[in-house]
Amino acid sequence: MNKAYIEVNPNRVLGKRDKMIYGHFIEHFHRQIYGGIYDPGNPLSDKEGFRTDVIEALKNIDVPTIRWPGGCFVSNYPWKDGVGQTRMPFFDKAWRVEESNQFGTDEFISFTRKVGAEPYICTNAGTGSSEDMSDWVEYCNLKDQGKWAKLRVENGYIDPHHVKYWSIGNENYGHWEMGAKDIEEWGRFVRESAKMMKRVDPSIELFAASISDLDWNINLLREAGKYLDWISIHGYWDTLNEVNDLSDYETCMTYTLKIEPQILKTKYILGSLGYLGKIKIAFDEWNLRGWHHPHVDSVTEDFLTPRDKNDLNASYTMADAVFTACFLNQCLKHCDVVGMANFSPTVNTRGAIFTHSDGIVLRSTYFIFEMFTKYMGDQVIDTWTSNGDSFQVEAKEGVVEVPSLDIVATSHENSSKISVSVVNRHPDQSKEISMNMKELDRFENVKVYSLQSDSKDDFNDVDNPDKIKINETEFIVPESDPFTINLPPHSVHVLVFH
Ligand code: AHR
Repeated sequence: MNKAYIEVNPNRVLGKRDKMIYGHFIEHFHRQIYGGIYDPGNPLSDKEGFRTDVIEALKNIDVPTIRWPGGCFVSNYPWKDGVGQTRMPFFDKAWRVEESNQFGTDEFISFTRKVGAEPYICTNAGTGSSEDMSDWVEYCNLKDQGKWAKLRVENGYIDPHHVKYWSIGNENYGHWEMGAKDIEEWGRFVRESAKMMKRVDPSIELFAASISDLDWNINLLREAGKYLDWISIHGYWDTLNEVNDLSDYETCMTYTLKIEPQILKTKYILGSLGYLGKIKIAFDEWNLRGWHHPHVDSVTEDFLTPRDKNDLNASYTMADAVFTACFLNQCLKHCDVVGMANFSPTVNTRGAIFTHSDGIVLRSTYFIFEMFTKYMGDQVIDTWTSNGDSFQVEAKEGVVEVPSLDIVATSHENSSKISVSVVNRHPDQSKEISMNMKELDRFENVKVYSLQSDSKDDFNDVDNPDKIKINETEFIVPESDPFTINLPPHSVHVLVFH
């Protein structure tokens, strides 16, 4: 077996990551809100109707920010009907169901505060107007000036909600969105909306729906760049169809190689237009598994079945965990430009947590967030790998060569620890790595947090909730030799040198 050599240089700090790369997204879609985070009447819910088991699980992974209310949903969302005593239901044309409006802006803010996360509101740039958006900022952030802030006070929320992060739109380039826009319309619309929103509260940070596409961004940034702090892009790599066909583990590993080109293309576009350093990238919806859009194909087909199939625990295996670790590794490697990422979604559908009436199941992806938020450091440091091997996958586009290892090293600003995330993507071979680091002798032991499972297709579900879980082991750091460890196939590890 090949031994790979890893060199780590803690003295070369490459950048500081923003902890918002560990963010989440929740949408009024399927069982994410109702029967997900919000379940009044369930014995596990608090008096406001929020599931306490979900809140505890999210606190455990220190969720920094949550984006809401959509997704496609937001592009036809009348936010004003979702506040106050009387809630008017509406027919949601994105997902073709009735939305009761029981969970609205104030409930979202309460939920995020209970979790300890920053709220991030995505506004309706589909059927909504610039005025609706700035009214929403007024409702949330002004003390009591104007009709909308006064309405919030009247609704019992005396103090402003202080929402810092606001996005203009969601995937408005897409023909599947309600009120989709073309390139020229989008730039102008974002400019005018941004102007109004920042006039209400100049301290907010503004995002605009974007895509890794030159034409879209040239116009958007020329028109509205000076108002924007972020552009938001989305990534779903394994798009599900009606029958929920999932790609096999090996194909999913080829998708891990598609994350970086998307970041780099967006970064180069920002750079060529002079916005690097001012505008950051928010990967504000991402997940290995994508969603099939039956509503654009036919309004007559069975619409409910595919979304239920998205909720099957058996679909979320070690492939999802390994992909998630590789995604977070890319955010760390590109921490100069990626400042936020939101796993889509937090709960149910393809989420990290599955809820049922008696409790929750933590899916494989949940543990990657636990490992990264608890054990990785906040500064990315220089690392390189030699002698690492690769494996070949027959993909649609031909044979793809996938490197077995994916590694990022970090240091901690406030302690002398070094944390290294190491992924072994190989489907069925263990990999031995030997790690050398400047001043290795100052460390006494290494704690290794590992996610591994006998089969790459293993998953957690209601009957078997602990099949995949984090294992912790501890090793002594050898006095003069490099530290050597064997990594099982399809596994993820965070090594913490103390
Ligand atoms: O998660 C389902 C949908 O996928 C979201 O609403 C949309 O933003 C994305 O295309």
